[in-house]
This record gives sequence, structure tokens and C-alpha cells, in this order.
Amino acid sequence: MEKSQFARELKEKDEVSAPFLVKFAAVQVGKTGKPYMNLVLMDRSGEIEARVWEDVASHAGQAVRDAFVLAEGKIQLFQGRRQLVVKKLRVLREDDVNVKDFMVDTGLDAEALYARLLGYVASMQDPYYRALAESVLRDDAEIMDRVKRAPAAKAMHHAYKTGLLEHVVSITATLDFLAAHYGPKVDRDLLFLGGFFHDIGKLWELSYDRVTDYTDEGRMIGHLVMGVELVDRKIRELESQNGRLPGRFPEDKKLLVKHVVLSHHGRLDYGSPKRPKCLEAVIVHAIDDLDSKVNAVMKWVEADQTPGRWTGLNRQFERSFYKPDWAIEGQGPTSLN
Ligand SMILES: [Fe+2]
Ligand SMILES: [Fe+2]
Repeated sequence: MEKSQFARELKEKDEVSAPFLVKFAAVQVGKTGKPYMNLVLMDRSGEIEARVWEDVASHAGQAVRDAFVLAEGKIQLFQGRRQLVVKKLRVLREDDVNVKDFMVDTGLDAEALYARLLGYVASMQDPYYRALAESVLRDDAEIMDRVKRAPAAKAMHHAYKTGLLEHVVSITATLDFLAAHYGPKVDRDLLFLGGFFHDIGKLWELSYDRVTDYTDEGRMIGHLVMGVELVDRKIRELESQNGRLPGRFPEDKKLLVKHVVLSHHGRLDYGSPKRPKCLEAVIVHAIDDLDSKVNAVMKWVEADQTPGRWTGLNRQFERSFYKPDWAIEGQGPTSLN
């Protein structure tokens, strides 16, 4: 099926008849007690919220997450946001659609980013820390394949294909700069391991073949503990291989790597069982937080379609953001009011 209408371009009053991928689907009950369906539909251009008001029972089984659907209806504005009011919905088979129409093209070059990552690994000085980084990022084919594809999150930040790698390279570049800035009292290699490994559990915390979601392991264990488990396993493997390490992996270094991973959310109520308790952990936490926020705000401003200088309300940050000229080009005249 040819796709000629894309989510990003849809405007108020547009009549829509196009295939979409279901990113989110839930049945909710309105104020009158009547059930309706709340959907997020997506394609490679972006996403659009949708509502089904009629025939909810028969549609609910059709439009499930990860399904391709043909949606027919009309775009309306609801609280300033575009919403597709669906009149008809039909499930499509995967061979009815051109799957490429639904894969978000981020313009990221996974191979080039990965080459940069391996450059950082090769620049490490400590033989234990470097061997650990190599065993994960250079010698493990499954991990390499996953790192090139994985998003960093389901929503929030870097929530797209290769987003995790973009996040990790961005953080490591910043850590490289800060290592030079603060001098030899901070351990550049340990900072790098924090950059590489802090979110590496997300490779298995999330599933991301089509739509991103949490795995059972992700829900029950989470990426901080999963990252520590990986570090443990890789160190054991290195110790069992003759000649890979100059000696037994030093206990203090093992603890430091695991601590930087476990503490990177910074606070107990943000999921870290320990707060950062060494300089490198403090720095990795701060830069991780910074990089996630910068990406989240940048993408929010970029995607915003609200007329004028201010974006719609961002629920994560509980505020609207000011849009600079680059974000409002092509949106017509605006004023600061
Ligand atoms: Fe994290
Ligand atoms: Fe992160």
C-alpha cells in the first residue's frame, strides 16, 4: 500500500486515509462513562495522537502496539494539539506496507559513531579498564549489533534508533574534555567506563525491533543492575582467558566501575541504590543528566508545531520552551506575546 500522508505534515481539517504503525493503544473511559480509544500512531516522519470514539469494542482488538493499521478520519485540534479522530480502522499485514515508511530516519550514522566509540576505547591507558571496555565493545558481536540499533529510552530522551549510541558518544566526548579540564586527579579511564557502561543494560532492558518497549527483565531488574551484571560476567570471562589481563582484575577497580554504573541516576528515588561516592561517579551522573536533558529539550522544540514563539506544555519538564528562529522557520510570522 502506497503511503502518501505522513504524520508530521497533517494539519487541522485534513481528511486522512493512510497506514500507520501503532505506537501506543489504550482503552479509556470518558467523563460520560463511555469507553474510547487513545492511540499514538507513527511513521517515519513522526507521530500523531488519535482517538476512536465509535465501535470501540471491535477496534480495541485490532489496534494493538506494533500493529500496522489503515486509519481513516479527520484531523482536529484539541487543546492546541493535532488529533486524528478515527472513523475507520483496519489492521494491515506487514507485507501490505512498505516497512521503510515507518522506520524513523534520524540521520545518525551508526557506523561512524561506533568508530568514534572504538577510538575512545583504544585511547584508554589502564590495561584492566581497557581490556574490560574491549571485551564489551570490540569483541562481543551481539553487543556491537545491539549498540548500533538501540534507543536510549522509550520516551524522555534519545528515544529513537541508535539513540543510545548517540547518547554514549556525546557523553564520552564531554567526559574526555572534562578529564583534560580537571586534570590527573580524576581518572579518565574510569570516566570513560562510566560513559560506555552506565546505560548498557538498556540493550536488554528495552525491546526495539519495531516499537520500543520494556522487556520483562527490564521491568523486573532494570538497566543499572543489568549493567553491573554484565561488568561482573565480562571480568570473570577476562580472568578465565589466558594472557588477556596482566593479573587478576583488581578488586578496587571492579568496585569503582560497578559503583559508577549503579550510582549514575544520582538519587535513591531515581533508581540508584547508592548516591555517587567518588569524583568520577559525580561527573558521570552530572553529564548523563545534562546530555539527556539537552536532547529531550532539543527534540521537543524541533518537533513542536504550536504557532508562535512558545512550544506546547512539556509534561516531563512541566513548562513550555521558547523557540529560537531555527525552530519557527516556515511557520509564518510570530510575535513575543
Ligand atoms: Fe540510566
Ligand atoms: Fe544515560
